[in-house]
Amino acid sequence: MTTFTVRAPASSANLGPGFDSLGLSVPLYTTVKVTPGDVTEVVPHGPELEGTPADESNYVYRAMLLVAKRTGLTLPPARMEITTEVPLARGLGSSAAALVAGIVAANELLGRPLDDHAVLDVAAREEGHPDNVAPALFGGIVVATLDKLGTHYVRLDPPANLGVTVLIPDFELSTSKARAVLPREYSRADAVHALSHAALLAAALSQGRLDLLRHAMQDYIHQIWRAPLVPGLSDILEDAWRHGALGAALSGAGPTVLCFHDTRESTALLHAYLNSVMKKNGLDGRVMDFPIDTQGTLIEREG
Ligand code: HSE
Repeated sequence: MTTFTVRAPASSANLGPGFDSLGLSVPLYTTVKVTPGDVTEVVPHGPELEGTPADESNYVYRAMLLVAKRTGLTLPPARMEITTEVPLARGLGSSAAALVAGIVAANELLGRPLDDHAVLDVAAREEGHPDNVAPALFGGIVVATLDKLGTHYVRLDPPANLGVTVLIPDFELSTSKARAVLPREYSRADAVHALSHAALLAAALSQGRLDLLRHAMQDYIHQIWRAPLVPGLSDILEDAWRHGALGAALSGAGPTVLCFHDTRESTALLHAYLNSVMKKNGLDGRVMDFPIDTQGTLIEREG
C-alpha cells in the first residue's frame, strides 16, 4: 500500500442554540500522513503539537484504534506524521479534527471496512456529541443527532454569500471546564426557547435566510453560563449585529467567538469592533475571516 494523507478541517459547533447538534466546517486543517512500514511510529510536527505524545498514546493513534475495535481488524504497522493548523482548546474542534483524521486514516489503512455513516458514528460516540465531528467529516453545515439508535444527520451546502469571522483569543479553555459550568436541568421555557431557535436556525441556514440569523442564533442553554469564562462574549452577542455581523455565537465550548458576515460586504467594521472588544477586556487574540469549508475530510494518495 502506498503513502496517503488524510486532511480533516476545523469546525465551529453549536452556532448558538444548536447545542451539541449543529456545526460548520472551517478551512484550517489537521493532516495525518500515513506510510505503511514495518513498525508503528507516531510523529507530531509543528508548534501547535509541541508536547503532544509521540507514541501510541497520541490522540490520533487512539482514534485509529477505535476502528480496529469496531471492525475486529488489526491495524498494520505504519508511520503516522501529524500536523495541524487548528489552534488547540479554542473551540474550533481541534480534537474532533484529530479524531476524524485518525478514524479515516485507520479505515483507509484497513481497506475501508466502514462507510461514511459508520465513520461518523464511531467519531460521534467517542466525542459524545456529533456537532464537531459531523462537519469535520462532511464539510459544510451539518445538523446531527446522536442517540441509542445511532447518529443521524443532514448536511447543508452553505448558503450563498455566507462567510465567518472568528475572534480567536490567545487563551485556552477546556471543553470539560466549559461543560462543567452548565446547569443540570432547564425549565420548560428554556427548552422551548432552545428548540424553537435551533429549529429556526436550521431552517434559515437551509433556505439561505441570512436576515433571520441574528434572531435564530439566540441561546440560553449554554452561552449565558459560559459568558463569565470568555471576557467580551456578552457584548459581542448583544452588539455584533450593529457592526456588520449577521449573527454571533460562542464557537463550540469557546473561547473563540464566531460571527457570520455577508461576503459581498467589507468586514473592516466588524474587525474594528471585535478588536475594540478585545482591547476593552485586556485580551490578545486574532480576528480572521473564512469561507465555510465544503469539502470535509479528504484522502490524498501519493503516486
Ligand atoms: N457542543 C459542545 C459544547 C462543543 O458546546 O460543549 C464542544 O465540544
